[in-house]
Amino acid sequence: MANDPQTKLGINTRLAHIGNDPREFHGFVNPPVVHASTVLFPDAATMAARAQRYTYGTRGTPTSDALCSAFDALEGSAGTVAVPSGLAAVTLPLIAFLSAGDHLLIVDSVYGPTRHFANTMLTRLGVEVEYYDPRIGAGISRLFRPNTRVIFTESPGSNTFEVQDIPAIVEAAREIDAVVMIDNTWATALLFKPLDFGVDVVIHAATKYPAGHSDVLLGTVSANPKCWPQLHETFLSVGICAGPDDVYQVHRGLRTMGVRLERHGATALRLAEWLETQPGVARVLHPALPSHPDHALWKRDFKGASGIFSIVLAGGGKTQAHAFLDALAIFGLGYSWGGFESLAVPVFLGDRTVAVAPQEGPVLRLQIGLEDFEDLQADLATGLAAAAAA
Ligand SMILES: Cc1ncc(COP(=O)(O)O)c(C=O)c1O
Repeated sequence: MANDPQTKLGINTRLAHIGNDPREFHGFVNPPVVHASTVLFPDAATMAARAQRYTYGTRGTPTSDALCSAFDALEGSAGTVAVPSGLAAVTLPLIAFLSAGDHLLIVDSVYGPTRHFANTMLTRLGVEVEYYDPRIGAGISRLFRPNTRVIFTESPGSNTFEVQDIPAIVEAAREIDAVVMIDNTWATALLFKPLDFGVDVVIHAATKYPAGHSDVLLGTVSANPKCWPQLHETFLSVGICAGPDDVYQVHRGLRTMGVRLERHGATALRLAEWLETQPGVARVLHPALPSHPDHALWKRDFKGASGIFSIVLAGGGKTQAHAFLDALAIFGLGYSWGGFESLAVPVFLGDRTVAVAPQEGPVLRLQIGLEDFEDLQADLATGLAAAAAA
């Protein structure tokens, strides 16, 4: 019942039970971790016909099936594949749906390595890559060419958190039968369900909130019935399947993702609201704040906010940014997010081609962990004092 995307069960009840059925494996509540390349067949006829559920390690195991059906239950997708990183989850569907001569539209606020892949590998393979303004909405149709094949979205955008008008983009894409993809890592399926909005392919860096403990790399790609066969075929062709221990860890992480996300989101919003009142901060880039230019869109489409946002310092440059970062004691200086611990990073926006980077001062991204609000607030106050004194 928890696996039924239409179920009326609450989200935390579903997260506690989705994926595996304990009765299929001796009643153990967790799925087996199957380490496998070879799978034996009972006889030559079965082997010739590949007539059994599992045939080879790259093509699925009980461990990967359990996680992928959990994602299908959350997303309402026809199928999901698990790959070794979030970046692989971005590149796999792009390879699956693009060919030489196709035109790809990518949001300009996209995750940096996605841009790198498009600008290097896809360009080399003969794909025309074009970036668009995250706030373009229905205006995206003005960029359509006869060969536009894929529209890649990420909402909110990396580092600056612009919210995209996904329904408007989907409606425009339908006119030309383009495939709409979304990197939905920020929201997870709990806060935004893209397939319900007509998106075709949903990407998650499961490294972040699903894993939740900064110790696993994993990606998932889920698709609607129209796109699943081609996505699955490409997954089997390229052979980038995730390892069973990582897959298991992410499934384990899903069990607590709802309660963790609630805490990440609540602390992050409280800190964002407080930071907005601080003289050293010019702007807080968090879509759940009424001051955010896309707040209305976020409110219309999202069920909540997760725990990562950015601040723009009021003036200064690299010296002030480094003073802020170096003064932090609880926030670590490190990449990634969605884990239990808070992190801060300076944001590089120099590769933007359309979306204008904030001009008031340096942009710093904050991943809010599970620590106590007061301790994080005090740490950020120390950082702001250090930036002001620099
Ligand atoms: C929005 C987004 N997508 C994808 C990724 C890639 O995930 P991974 O680190 O697992 O490769 C990241 C990583 O930071 C990300 O922020």
